[in-house]
Amino acid sequence: MPVIIEPFRIKVVEPIPLLTPEQRRELLRRAGFNLFALHADHVTFDLLTDSGTSAMSAAQWAALVQGDESYAGSPSFFQLEAVVRDVTGFRHVIPTHQGRAAERILFALTVGPGSVVPNNSHFDTTRANIEFDGGTALDLVIPEGRDPAARHPFKGNIDLQRLEDACREHAGKIPLGMLTLTNNAGGGQPVSLANVRAAADVLHAHGIPLILDACRIAENGWFVREREPGQQDRRVKDIVRELFSCADGCTFSGKKDGLVNIGGFLALNDDALAERARQLLILTEGFPTYGGMAGRDLSAMAVGLLEALDERYLEYRIASTRYLAEGLNRAGIPTVQPPGGHAVYIDAKAFLPHVPAERFPGQSLACELYLEGGIRSCEIGTAMLGRVDEQGRWTPAAMELVRLALPRRVYTQSHVERMLEICAEVAARRERLPGYRMTQAPRFLRHFTAVFEPLRA
Ligand code: F0G
Repeated sequence: MPVIIEPFRIKVVEPIPLLTPEQRRELLRRAGFNLFALHADHVTFDLLTDSGTSAMSAAQWAALVQGDESYAGSPSFFQLEAVVRDVTGFRHVIPTHQGRAAERILFALTVGPGSVVPNNSHFDTTRANIEFDGGTALDLVIPEGRDPAARHPFKGNIDLQRLEDACREHAGKIPLGMLTLTNNAGGGQPVSLANVRAAADVLHAHGIPLILDACRIAENGWFVREREPGQQDRRVKDIVRELFSCADGCTFSGKKDGLVNIGGFLALNDDALAERARQLLILTEGFPTYGGMAGRDLSAMAVGLLEALDERYLEYRIASTRYLAEGLNRAGIPTVQPPGGHAVYIDAKAFLPHVPAERFPGQSLACELYLEGGIRSCEIGTAMLGRVDEQGRWTPAAMELVRLALPRRVYTQSHVERMLEICAEVAARRERLPGYRMTQAPRFLRHFTAVFEPLRA
C-alpha cells in the first residue's frame, strides 16, 4: 500500500525550540517538575493537548480576512450556521467561545439539584458544569472501555443495560443523556453508530433527549467507516450526519474537529430551549449572531468544520496517531489498545511497575519524556485524579496514563519518528526512573499548579 502522506504542503513555518539536556533539566526543576508550568517556547514537541492547537489552512486564513465584524446579522454567522446545519441537521446554532461555554449554558437551563446526567464518560468540564448546577454526572461506558489492554473496536460505547437501569432508577430526574464522541476520558475511543442509535432509543423511550458532546465526531465518523460492518462504502460526512440525526442537539468545541484555535457552539432542535439558550448567551457570551466569537473566527470555523470531514485528511490524521502507538508498542511501551483518534495514551502503571501509584508513575514518565527530548505530555493518573486524605495517604486513580495528544496538521512524519526515538531512549532505562513526591498542591484542579520533587531512583 502506498505510504499515507500528510495531504498538505507547508506555506508558513515556525521554528521549534531545540534545547540542550542541561537546559531542560534546569527549566523542569524551576517548573517544580510540573509540565504545565513550563513556557511553551521551552518545549520541542508539545503534545499537551490537541485542543486549540491546530494549524489552519490557507482557505481558513482567507476566510478569516473576509470575516465580517458586524455586531448584529454578520454574514460570517450565516456562513457558519449554514455549515453547522448541513453537517449536523440541527435547526438552532448558538455560537460560543469554546465547548465549555456551550455546556455551561445548556446545563444552566436543564440541570438542577438532584438531576442525573448519564454519558459514556464525561469530560472534566462537562462533569464540573453539571456538578456546579447541583447534578450528578454518571459514567456508563462498557467494561472494555475501562481496561487499557482490552481490544474492542468501539471502546467508547455506552453500556445500554446500565443506561436503561439508570433511566428507571432515576426516573424524572434525567433532563438529558449524553454521549461523548470520541470518548476522550476513556482514551479517545469511538462510539459505534449502532450504539448511538440504541442509546437514543433507550433515552427517547423514557422521554429523555440525547445531546452529543461532539468535539471529535469527524474522527469518530472515520472509525465507524473503518470498523463498523456495513459502513465501509459510505462517506464520512454522511455517517457523521447520521450520528447527529439520532440526537436532539450537541455541544461542540471548535478547538478540536473545528480546526480552529478558539470557538464552539451549542446546536439544538428544541425551539423553546434554543430561545432560552439565546437569552443566556446574550448575558454571558454575546449577541446571538456572534456569541462568544469574533466574526472572523466564525468564518474560519465554518471552513474548518468541512475540512475536518475531508477523508484524505482523516486518513492521515488517524494513521499518524496509529503510527505513533505502534512504534511505542514495538519499543515495549504499553499503550491503551487500540489507539484512539487524537491521542496515544501510555499505560504508565504497566510501564513502570516499580513506581507505586502514590509516587506518580505517570508524572515520572512525563518528566522523563521532557528531559530526554523536550516532549510535553499530560499525566492522567493519580497526580490528576487520585484522592489524598489529611494524613497524606493517597487513593490511586483507576489508571495511570500519560496522554500524547497530537495537534492537527502540526507535526510531520519525521517529527513522529523523533518522538519515537525519545520514547525508546526512556524505555531503555525505565528501571532507573524515579518516583515523585508532591510537595505543594492547591485544593482544586491540583494538577495544573502542583509542585513535585523526584525521589532517589
Ligand atoms: N468535551 C470534550 C470531550 C473535550 O475533550 C473538551 C476539551 C471539552 C468538552 C471542552 O471544550 O476546551 O473548548 O471548552 N478538551 C481539551 C483536552 C481541553 O485537552 O482534551 P473546550
